[in-house]
Amino acid sequence: MKFAEFTDRHKAFRDEVRGFAKKELLDESTQIDRKGEFPWHIINKIKERGWLGVPFPEKYGGLGLDATSYIILVEEIARVCASTAIMIAAHVSLACQPIYANGTEEQKEKYLVPLSRGEKIGSFGLTEPNAGSDAGGTETTAKLIGDKWLINGTKRFITNGHVADVIVFTASQDREKKTHGISAFIVEKGTKGFEAGKEEDKMGLRGSITSELHFEDCELPKENLLGKEYEGFKVFMETLDGGRISIGVLALGIAQGALDYGIEYAREYSLNGKPLYKYQWVQKIIADAATEIMAARHLIYHAANLKDRGEKRVTEEGAMAKLYASEVSTRVCSKIQSILGKDGLTKKYPLERFLRDTKLMEIGEGTSEIQRLVISRQIFGR
Ligand code: CAA
Repeated sequence: MKFAEFTDRHKAFRDEVRGFAKKELLDESTQIDRKGEFPWHIINKIKERGWLGVPFPEKYGGLGLDATSYIILVEEIARVCASTAIMIAAHVSLACQPIYANGTEEQKEKYLVPLSRGEKIGSFGLTEPNAGSDAGGTETTAKLIGDKWLINGTKRFITNGHVADVIVFTASQDREKKTHGISAFIVEKGTKGFEAGKEEDKMGLRGSITSELHFEDCELPKENLLGKEYEGFKVFMETLDGGRISIGVLALGIAQGALDYGIEYAREYSLNGKPLYKYQWVQKIIADAATEIMAARHLIYHAANLKDRGEKRVTEEGAMAKLYASEVSTRVCSKIQSILGKDGLTKKYPLERFLRDTKLMEIGEGTSEIQRLVISRQIFGR
């Protein structure tokens, strides 16, 4: 397993995003969390730079860069504001990617182009009130009646939920067939019978939107099927293979942000007249955090590099990247918080926010237990 070195283009892109995050987002991130409002003003600036379509070809409205560049984008944004980073991740890797990978030319023209350009916002509807980890238990139904799909059901915990204009989602054509009865579809905001419901009041990522989606006798044109009938589960699982790399890198960005802050704090503050960084217990926390973050970075960029090479599925590598990075991030944020002592508990410092934000990384796009299941199935088979 060789770590993919960044090319000069990757480094230039990283520096550009890092500069943007420092200038436009660093000071805003606390307010985004406090107000708990979707950061439209930041998203508009991100959209102007074309970053909502980083890995897609120019002919589909994207920047024509690679998966590694997209991962760099999410890391650098998450380092200062995870609420903004998760909006980008849900839009790019969960909404645009399945349309890019499975859509017809007409669907790419109609949906992917405006999504990549950031003229529209996307989301991904998989989770339901009774189908979370068991995504095959999808209860939302789809019936083909004449040349229309009739959709009924509810999706829950949908990132970008009510701000999304284009939503890819799953529905079952035959619940007896479980995963093999599921198909994927595209719905647009404003479609009769479809509306966003209750918004979640979350402990972290408070600037990101998470809401329910309701379908009540919602009629969709026949051509809104994404991919083939009964193959929606695979479409969604393949999407999550890449999506899990994004959640891993989001965790990595948060952990790196916490480490950056811990180093600054340990340099600046003293205990009993001795600078904090000269204490062995502080050095241990910082050294362990830096080491674990480096290991997580290798896993993540290795998975992104494999995705760019396109030689094989990244099911195992994506799950490993997310599992490891999310657990590292929770540990790192908690340990760094302890360097700050009581300060770490206050809202004056960003550590409490990092800790609240990173918890979702162990849950979203499959819990740590699901990642372990996915990895062990890759090793042992079923
Ligand atoms: N790529 C391609 N095909 C795949 C696949 C993949 N990664 N994973 C599974 N499949 C195929 C299988 O090969 C199988 O096909 P065959 O029967 O033809 O061989 C079919 O799909 C069914 O697979 P399984 O039998 O493995 O399915 P399962 O019911 O046992 O479930 C699971 C597997 C891994 C537990 C899956 O349900 C899962 O990933 N659950 C977690 C769901 C999840 O991550 N939800 C997150 C929601 S999105 C979110 O959180 C976003 C956010 O807002 C942050």
